[in-house]
Amino acid sequence: MIVCSCTVITDRDIESALVEILSAPNAPIPTPGVVFRHLSKRMNCCSCAPVAVEAIYEKVDELEKKGLISPTLSATTRSKLLEFRTRAAAPRSMTKKFTSASETPKAALRSIG
Ligand code: FES
Repeated sequence: MIVCSCTVITDRDIESALVEILSAPNAPIPTPGVVFRHLSKRMNCCSCAPVAVEAIYEKVDELEKKGLISPTLSATTRSKLLEFRTRAAAPRSMTKKFTSASETPKAALRSIG
């Protein structure tokens, strides 16, 4: 199944990348960006990001069932992916239209602290 049509990344590509990424010492959270960079690809339109997160999440589960990664690493990775997905979704739910130059997203972030 093609996950990213811009870069033609399949779920099998993601699985292969995950095996390599997660076998490294101090493996990073396999976010779509980490997986894409590992595959020497770069996101273009980013519309596949939610699908990529889901594919990564499912592949981590499958790799655990195949015995290719430990249950502990699988649980930790899936937990971190859920945090990542929650954080990535938060700004969209807080989207606000800015009406003047002084009311820019940067200014709003400064006012939050
Ligand atoms: S569909 Fe993946 S970057 Fe466009």
